[in-house]
Amino acid sequence: MEFLLAALLTLSLLLRGPVVLAASIAVRDTSSPDHLSKHCFPALGFVTPQRTPEDFELEHWWCDPSTEYAFVGFSYEVTACQSRQQLIEEFRDIRYHFNSRYVRLYGACDRENFYDDIVEAAWQSSLGVHALVWFGFNGDDVWIGRRDALFSSLHSNPRAKFVTRVVQFGSEPLFDNVLPHDQLAEQVILAKANLSSLHIPVTVSELAYGYQERGGAQDVLDAIDSINIHMLPFFSQNASTANESWPLVLNDLDWFIEHGNGKKMYFDENGWPSVTSPSVQPNSPLAVSDVENEQQYFILLDRHCEYLKEVVGGGVGWFAHIYSDNQEPGYGIYDSSGHLKFPFHPRTFC
Ligand SMILES: *[C@@H]1O[C@H](CO)[C@@H](O)[C@H](O)[C@H]1NC(C)=O
Ligand SMILES: *[C@@H]1O[C@H](CO)[C@@H](O)[C@H](O)[C@H]1NC(C)=O
Ligand SMILES: *[C@@H]1O[C@H](CO)[C@@H](O)[C@H](O)[C@H]1NC(C)=O
Repeated sequence: MEFLLAALLTLSLLLRGPVVLAASIAVRDTSSPDHLSKHCFPALGFVTPQRTPEDFELEHWWCDPSTEYAFVGFSYEVTACQSRQQLIEEFRDIRYHFNSRYVRLYGACDRENFYDDIVEAAWQSSLGVHALVWFGFNGDDVWIGRRDALFSSLHSNPRAKFVTRVVQFGSEPLFDNVLPHDQLAEQVILAKANLSSLHIPVTVSELAYGYQERGGAQDVLDAIDSINIHMLPFFSQNASTANESWPLVLNDLDWFIEHGNGKKMYFDENGWPSVTSPSVQPNSPLAVSDVENEQQYFILLDRHCEYLKEVVGGGVGWFAHIYSDNQEPGYGIYDSSGHLKFPFHPRTFC
């Protein structure tokens, strides 16, 4: 590429100009909107090359976070330890059927080299990844081994840093009280140091209430690079229908705007369930769970696209929680037999 440009420049000296014009048009096509760019990963127009990029290409690799508002992709649970082939097929579906730019991992698979399969599937489908160090719900130390396995893959797999947009600690470590907030903040700082040579940022995947019930946990908010928010208004004590949940969304979002120092924000675990289950119980007698409300919640976010685009930090990008009912009952876009529960074509820009 550099050789080609040098050759074109030399040629242009001979021809006086027009070739340079042709070259610059080839390098930057300003006619397509940013989210469709062919020039930054993982914009919808970008296709990953066959080769692995060189390290120096990382500098201009990622799309500007301000293009990542509206729908960006799905939460995807990996506790089933999907095969590499299944990951490839489903990541392609996530990318090309729904115009996703990212997949946000949820749960854990402790199979050796599993993250390398994620990287390969993400590479083949031109999808970025919000990776996850999963604490689980048992209050034990298995997350330490998961962190080490993930970090070692991030360092050793030459493609990993080109698909991994951020590493999250989750899910809801403050709400679940798996670590005191000062220790969680310290873990974030250590992870940032470990991953700094790879330019991979670090965050925590958490509810507003998780921070609030730990005195605000400002040390954690200060340490994280982006704010990955769990937006699950069905659980609010004021919940009724999804269509009426915008004040509940704003209530939590405003808290992060006030305390988040202008950092980039995502709703990374975000949705409304179509059914309740033992682990999905409302806190309001008026909360309605059915497929129509599941759909209405995403329509609500689409309706507020222009608002979410203007939020401090480059707008709020949102994930749909979750890809399939097999991964979390009631929250899936697909039901447990693989059928779409409702038409789903959320806006990727506005
Ligand atoms: C990063 O963390 C991994 C796993 O804990 C460790 O093996 C590696 O030495 C660390 N690297 C740096 C640069 O801190
Ligand atoms: C949802 O709320 C909006 C605005 O409040 C209203 O215009 C619309 O009709 C409602 N949709 C449904 C399905 O209730
Ligand atoms: C929930 O309802 C109560 C009582 O009406 C109200 O005071 C409170 O502000 C509401 N909270 C939200 C987040 O809307």
